[in-house]
Amino acid sequence: SLATAAPPTFHPTRLPPYQTLLNNLETVRKVTDNQPLSLAEKILFSHVRNPEEVLARAGNVRDFRGKEYLPLKVDRLAMQDASAQMALLQFMTCGLPQTAVPASVHCDHLIQAFEGAEADLKRSIASNHEVFKFLESASKKYGIEFWAPGSGIIHQIVLENYAAPGLLMLGTDSHTPNASGMGCLAIGVGGADAVDALTDTPWELLTPRLLNVHLTGTLSPWCTPKDIILHLVSRLTVRGGTGRIVEYSGPGLESLPATGLATMSNMGAEVGATTSCFGYNDAMGRYLDATGRSEVKAGAQGAAARGLLSADKGAEYDERIEINLDTLEPCLNGPFTPDLSTSISEYTTRAKDAKARDHPLELSAALIGSCTNSSYNDLARCSSLAKQALDRGMKVKCSFDVTPGSEQVRATVERDGITSIMEQVGGRVLANACGPCIGQWDRKECQGEENVILTSFNRNFRSRNDGNSKTHNMLASPEIVTAMAFAGRLDFNPMTDSLTAPDGKPFKFDPPVGEELPTNGFTPGEAAYLPFPAPEPQPDVEIAIDPTSTRLEHLQPFGSAFSEGKYELDGLRCLMRIKGKCTTDHISAAGPWLKYKGHLSNLAENTLIGATNAETDRVNSAVDYETGKEDTIPNVAKAFKARNQPWVLVADHNYGEGSAREHAALQPRFFGCQVIVARSLARIAETNLRKQGVLTLLFANESDYELISAGDEISTKGLEPLMKPNGDLTAQVTLVVRKPDGKVLEIPTKHTLSKAHIDWIRAGSALNVIREQATQ
Ligand code: F3S
Repeated sequence: SLATAAPPTFHPTRLPPYQTLLNNLETVRKVTDNQPLSLAEKILFSHVRNPEEVLARAGNVRDFRGKEYLPLKVDRLAMQDASAQMALLQFMTCGLPQTAVPASVHCDHLIQAFEGAEADLKRSIASNHEVFKFLESASKKYGIEFWAPGSGIIHQIVLENYAAPGLLMLGTDSHTPNASGMGCLAIGVGGADAVDALTDTPWELLTPRLLNVHLTGTLSPWCTPKDIILHLVSRLTVRGGTGRIVEYSGPGLESLPATGLATMSNMGAEVGATTSCFGYNDAMGRYLDATGRSEVKAGAQGAAARGLLSADKGAEYDERIEINLDTLEPCLNGPFTPDLSTSISEYTTRAKDAKARDHPLELSAALIGSCTNSSYNDLARCSSLAKQALDRGMKVKCSFDVTPGSEQVRATVERDGITSIMEQVGGRVLANACGPCIGQWDRKECQGEENVILTSFNRNFRSRNDGNSKTHNMLASPEIVTAMAFAGRLDFNPMTDSLTAPDGKPFKFDPPVGEELPTNGFTPGEAAYLPFPAPEPQPDVEIAIDPTSTRLEHLQPFGSAFSEGKYELDGLRCLMRIKGKCTTDHISAAGPWLKYKGHLSNLAENTLIGATNAETDRVNSAVDYETGKEDTIPNVAKAFKARNQPWVLVADHNYGEGSAREHAALQPRFFGCQVIVARSLARIAETNLRKQGVLTLLFANESDYELISAGDEISTKGLEPLMKPNGDLTAQVTLVVRKPDGKVLEIPTKHTLSKAHIDWIRAGSALNVIREQATQ
């Protein structure tokens, strides 16, 4: 039997620095001449370092949007088990005794769903043992709160414990904005940004544009916050939120629970939004009380009274959308894309028409929960439907899986009889983890067959859930998923249609009902899942990495190419010239390589395997100038590394576009890349490369790109004035290129390097700078 834990005691690190934020807001007001500010601007600007200097640059704060980068002070960081590995391995090399901001690690993505919670957890812990051990030991050493496998999904745990009004937090997962449901700004980032937060390096964000979504009216009893976002995604499409924050307002918000706001901000990721935000309200206060954080509630109330947690009257937005909740119907979105939305009445009518369908009418599986929809309120409302059916002796007609978002929710719904109802109607409770949402679903049924599943999750790209490209995956609210599971068919509209109960009489669902929060409070569940009592660093802890491991490897700090009095580079060789598009996926492929996220030498075997060689026009092909032999790019790069031969990469336009994946910078650097010269560079890739100590240059004349070939010997001229301490940032660098026939070319370049970037490159990496400062 499981030992029930006492509720975790409130730790002061969970309280946002309200006084500092309010002081900063006052400064912002002065610098911006009291221009009306949106809520998103208030939270962002009160986290800007040097607001006097940074914000003074704009006459009108709107001029910042989409143009200026804000150097931000982050309050908190959360990392999931897959992305935490490289972030922590990097952090370990900088020699700091503890993280600069409160941080947490969550073991959730690596748990596979197969037979049910207990067995699945056991198996996943066994197969990922070394990764979990590493994360746990590193967390202990540096004072990070470690949430063990089984404790729950990162976003639900963050919501229950850390998300707080006015906070600026980062998370290494795209659905981090879930936490914004609690009135903060929570943003999903890559590992390099996580390292910024862990080391208190200013985190830079391009000032987002603002979309105001104004809600009026009230939801009908079958409608849920999930339907608001399913509807909004269809209006904005999957790209409509890029570079924007969605700021909600209006009387329609008043009747929504805080966890419903979290569902809406969670799926803001589906329109590509930076994040979403909501002004502080009573529902957030109730949720803070229920989750043992009355101190945060009191602080938030004080900050709200002084104007930090709501938009000013007259705040300006770049676009405004109004949704009248009175007119909204439950939606079904999909298949294969979250922005294809149909109202349930239209969907079920269409499903009846065999000619309009390219898939079977029967539902093969119904799944509820995940980080998107596993609040107490969600599960209570679902169980109210299941109970109605149970009372008439009915069972679900397809497999019905429930993924609780956290141990706290799991234990509380079990105590309150919700789980028992779900199980009595034929449901199965999976582990508190991502499971089928991220393809960690060892599904035996329907493999290779056309079939339809209905989930309350957030994403429905082809093959995402079960790896079967023929699985049509539709998204809906958990209530609709539950009700439709009893029909087992897609032409059933629970709002209007009846089913036949075992007694032969018709059965029609009444609308779902459920408590917003558990009347008897939450119970934390099993003690072993809670992080250690206080996030104090334990410097004596040894970090567990088996030297023979294929999944984890200590990172060795990169060396510097410069020394006192030597600030030019020479003897470099061009590895290859890349043609056309080269995204982070081309530089560091995902898929099966993901298991090596914590093992740089193994992962580096995929370096640039998607890149096209401009001289041979072949993908993943390079020629080693010394042997004249053609080989894969990683093999040639490895040969250069073995000869201690530093190299230059020549790239085309927008090198490194795509995700913020830091491996795309780490891997070339690991093999000895010292300079990347390109026609243009994607900004995040450029920053990531500089952080790893790679000098990034741009061709002054784009046509010079053609002039450098594999094997050319390259040195720099004019780098010294730029690179020496306190050097001249206006200095320009010339690449001196010696061809095999002895001909010498001089190629002018330009750059956008700042003083900090130069310091990083001179030291060999940004982490080396931090380590030097820490040991001074
Ligand atoms: Fe996990 Fe799926 Fe959420 S992968 S974090 S449950 S989107």
